Amino acid sequence: MAAPSHLISRFFGSLRPGGPSARDRQWVAEVLLPSEFDLWSSMSGPDRRHSAGVARRVQSTLGDACPRPVLAAALLHDSGKTVSGLRTPGRVLATVLDSSLGHDDDRARRWVQGPRPVRRLGQYWLHPGLGADILERRGSDPLTVAWAREHHLPAEACTLDRVIAAALRDADDD
Ligand SMILES: [Fe+2]
Ligand SMILES: [Fe+2]
Repeated sequence: MAAPSHLISRFFGSLRPGGPSARDRQWVAEVLLPSEFDLWSSMSGPDRRHSAGVARRVQSTLGDACPRPVLAAALLHDSGKTVSGLRTPGRVLATVLDSSLGHDDDRARRWVQGPRPVRRLGQYWLHPGLGADILERRGSDPLTVAWAREHHLPAEACTLDRVIAAALRDADDD
């Protein structure tokens, strides 16, 4: 989950409406499988802008060693956020609560059983696993699925190749 300092810049970025440029949208359509592109298209404009920026940075870091599933991982790592449907104010609340209470997946799973506003917070906290499950059902490469599931874990808990995981982590500025 984002640190408070990153939350501030992400908050202001999320207030700017609109998705990525036409050039980036075209590039993303060429990179992703059709089933992945449908999912990416359902993400908010600021989330799609963020994801395209992450993918561009990963590509420039890895160059020719950047296979398609790695770019898909960069583009879709936060696709699980579509489940909660939280917008900026709800996301700010979720992040503040998560850092003040301490991140706890068990608590998040309990909250998912609660009434709608509470459920959405729980779903937001569980977005890595929810996104990974969606990507698996849509036929994404195992690397893409793994990064969605692991992108908030400490580096030592990650199952991806170390160089690829570091490039993805460093490119993700939220
Ligand atoms: Fe995330
Ligand atoms: Fe991100």
